[in-house]
Amino acid sequence: MPSVLFVCLGNICRSPLAEGLFRHHVEKARRTEEFHIDSAGTGGWHAGDPPDPRSIEIARRYGIDITGQRARQLLTRDFEDYDLILGMDRSNVQTILQRSPVGARAKVHLFLKFADGTETDVPDPYYGGPDGFENVYHTLSAGCMSALGKL
Ligand code: 4NP
Repeated sequence: MPSVLFVCLGNICRSPLAEGLFRHHVEKARRTEEFHIDSAGTGGWHAGDPPDPRSIEIARRYGIDITGQRARQLLTRDFEDYDLILGMDRSNVQTILQRSPVGARAKVHLFLKFADGTETDVPDPYYGGPDGFENVYHTLSAGCMSALGKL
């Protein structure tokens, strides 16, 4: 069963949306039984919190409910529990790789590089306006579709 962990900095804006969107695409493809999916943050400041209201709202507008998700920090055991850890930006990937134990099971990739081969960050929308969330949503949706096609 492929297991996929989406990781950003806070686990309240980008990676919860990626988790919700990937799950949505998996369900639409009737492949739910095949996957274990979760998200986490390299930082733990928001652990236990629901997604940012702006992420909840953009997902809701497109018919995806992410209100039940709760933020958590990336754990050492994630490197054994997951096949694939996908970082949202290059800074996330650098932090994830620094924490990866030697001989870890998990393969670590930049999300969009894994999805469509582009060395592109999913930008952090936390300090911007609602447009940022709209853009991130569409980037993540297309990326999740491509990523699913690879798995
Ligand atoms: P995320 O966005 O990494 O997409 O969840 C952020 C959320 C919170 C913070 C930074 C980025 N923060 O500094 O609290």
